Amino acid sequence: MEELNDKSKDINDIISFEAAEEQIQHLNNPVAALKPIVKKYLNTVQKSAQDGNKFYFSDGDARVEVRVVSDEIIRVRLAPHGVFLDDFSYAVPTVDQKVTTFKMEEHPEYYAISTNTITCNVRKSDFNVSFVDNHTQMVMSEDASPMHWEENVEFGGYYVFATKKCQAEENFFGLGDKSGNMNLRGRHFQNWNTDAYSFGWDQDPLYRTIPFYVGVHNQAAYGIFFDNTFRSYFDFGKEDNAKTSFWADGGELQYYYIHGPHMIDVVKRYQSLTGTHPMPPKWALGYHQCRWSYYPEKKVKEIADGFRSRNIPCDAIYLDIDYMDGYRCFTWNKNYFPDPKRMIKELANDGFKTVVMIDPGIKVDDNYWVFKEGKENNYFCRRSDDYFMEGHVWPGRCQFPDFTNPTVREWWGNLYKELVDIGVAGVWNDMNEPAVFGSGTFPNDVRHNYDGYRGSHRKAHNVYGMQMVRSTYDGLKKLMRNKRPFTITRAGYSGMQRYGCVWTGDNVATWEHLKIGNIQCQRMSVSGVPFCGTDIGGFSGEPDGELFTRWIQLGTFSPFMRAHSAGDTAEREPWSFGEPYTSINRTYIELRYRLMPYLYSVFWEHHRYGFPIVRPLVMLEQENVGNGFRQDEFTFGDKILVCPVLEQGATSRMVYLPKGKWFNLWTHEILDGESEHNVAAPIERMPLFVRAGSVIPEYPVMQYVGEIHVEEVMLNVYYSDYEVNSFLFEDHGDTFAYEQDIYSEKKFSVRGTQYLLTIEQSITGLYTPNYELYNYNVIGVPFNVNKITVDDKDVTDYHIDERNCLRFKSNKNFTTIKIYN
Ligand code: GLC
Repeated sequence: MEELNDKSKDINDIISFEAAEEQIQHLNNPVAALKPIVKKYLNTVQKSAQDGNKFYFSDGDARVEVRVVSDEIIRVRLAPHGVFLDDFSYAVPTVDQKVTTFKMEEHPEYYAISTNTITCNVRKSDFNVSFVDNHTQMVMSEDASPMHWEENVEFGGYYVFATKKCQAEENFFGLGDKSGNMNLRGRHFQNWNTDAYSFGWDQDPLYRTIPFYVGVHNQAAYGIFFDNTFRSYFDFGKEDNAKTSFWADGGELQYYYIHGPHMIDVVKRYQSLTGTHPMPPKWALGYHQCRWSYYPEKKVKEIADGFRSRNIPCDAIYLDIDYMDGYRCFTWNKNYFPDPKRMIKELANDGFKTVVMIDPGIKVDDNYWVFKEGKENNYFCRRSDDYFMEGHVWPGRCQFPDFTNPTVREWWGNLYKELVDIGVAGVWNDMNEPAVFGSGTFPNDVRHNYDGYRGSHRKAHNVYGMQMVRSTYDGLKKLMRNKRPFTITRAGYSGMQRYGCVWTGDNVATWEHLKIGNIQCQRMSVSGVPFCGTDIGGFSGEPDGELFTRWIQLGTFSPFMRAHSAGDTAEREPWSFGEPYTSINRTYIELRYRLMPYLYSVFWEHHRYGFPIVRPLVMLEQENVGNGFRQDEFTFGDKILVCPVLEQGATSRMVYLPKGKWFNLWTHEILDGESEHNVAAPIERMPLFVRAGSVIPEYPVMQYVGEIHVEEVMLNVYYSDYEVNSFLFEDHGDTFAYEQDIYSEKKFSVRGTQYLLTIEQSITGLYTPNYELYNYNVIGVPFNVNKITVDDKDVTDYHIDERNCLRFKSNKNFTTIKIYN
């Protein structure tokens, strides 16, 4: 293998990587920073071989594997001296998917591995790897220099590097948990799960690691998923405007090329690799009230009563660390909560689910059963020289379970038994970066089982939190039998969405944080983590009534809607700021409950088909270059466009609407898409728009999910002169019966002319909802209505209401409705 300096490389590349390299060496080992950098690059391809869907290329020493995963996904791996690492990933449970056909052709200058959709070319002269869209022949992604590596003398293994060309107009999105602008172009990032209390704009790294990005250029999108759990780095044209690089402190240079060309398909395909979120219990989509901490029992009851007496809906109330005895997980402070089972039962009778906090730090205390069990069974992490990993967290001196050990995960999962038995409905895993006071996290030499593949903390750090919430989710699933668990995690890695939802951590009560939170939820969604929310109101600091209300408005359309605040702040419930805020907050929380059948259906589209829940404008219209820079507006599902108000004192704001026609949800005014509009946004109005042609199902307002037996579902039908399909998913709401196909999917098609509006319904599935009727609210009919038929039978009872909407009812099983001029 030739040395870097022997090769005629682009000098800019060397400079950029030397800078990066020095930074890495300095971070990890100041002594190593003194030694010369010996970077090795792949050289001329000398050999090729095929083994099923895997193709191997070698330069005489290093080997590269190109694996056809599906028609649209190809995986690339590098083995510097020919020996690949074990093929194990926490992110991707099963690599191979369905592939129709694939082949390899040898050309004089390159090898071409193609599926029906894409071709991966491996150039012989310098091992350059590129990906081409078969349909357009466009090069979607191409190496700027061959894959390369540097030996890590200190730890063994290699620092591994990939550098891709970056197109002039290329924009980048995704990468999970970053706090700045949505477009990643021109910036540099690091992934190392970090407890980032009161993080700021552009602070990096934060709590989660999702090494997956989407590139958009020439109106087409592709994705790169760098499945590497070590500390990793991404540079999107910052050091060199023409290059995008990613590299890691160890592990394998292994990445997936994921084809689009539509951004939404890239994300769907990424989810096909890493999984989707399981269906949550329906109540989890309600409003949640949290605080560090509500105690004693009297306070919890007072908060619960506060909701019910004010008619503000709420489904879940949280117990933060103070419910425990001395912060010992799985124990209760009996002074504060003398009879938790009774309290939880009483809360449940009033429609509240109780969610409790569980942290990873286990107090070193021989009189504490969890510590004793962990110690006796050798479940706690150890340092390289066999000392226990000890660090201070809330309970004082702690040891930490090794969640990368399947036996430990199973033990931990069973620890929830008592909590489940007394009626706890959900669990909140925090501090699992893992966070340690003082040092921040574990030292690198801590050893982990890594599901039998072994590793130091360098390799396991970024998956620690994900494996913790996995053990929580799996444990609860077993203990709750057929009921759906509800779990939340702060830290995670790609694939974490299979085990729980996330909140964005310790934010601050400022207008800037409202903006950050809005972008964070959109970015998490692009990054395959759909069920995400912020601490509404800001964790630290004091919002005023206006900021809190604007945050409740945004939160109404965050997949996870929870208010939370630190203990040293003033009371922070939806009524804490007096009028007019209390009433406005109530209206928005009620809206969330009215829209429950829509939100739930959107969740199903995510779970079953991999669609993101929250969709930024660029995902809706990637061909519009301007959308690469718009980051306020998003849609929830594909029917409701949300434009949060993010400026103090605003009474109006500009809104960009994508192609098509949109109804203002409040006024029913019809606006043209592909243009900007100045829209009224006084404090009681967050601009909301509904796509023309949509059918938005609606429930009556209830104080918690399931409070009211729904007798008829309202269908809000928005007129359109082009055909639009909408979906309604229904099932039991809290069991896994949907895995046995016990659910119903309804498709509504709306199509209008100047004289006729047609609504069609088709129903599939094995579930029959209890209600009998649809109650229609037809909006925007452009003609006088003279006749309505439901499956050819005349409807006699219809009227136009005070808002000029057409109102009538039908049986829920109709096939065709016609509304005539
Ligand atoms: C961490 C969490 C926060 C929680 C606090 C106490 O700061 O991020 O949500 O309230 O710990 O448990």
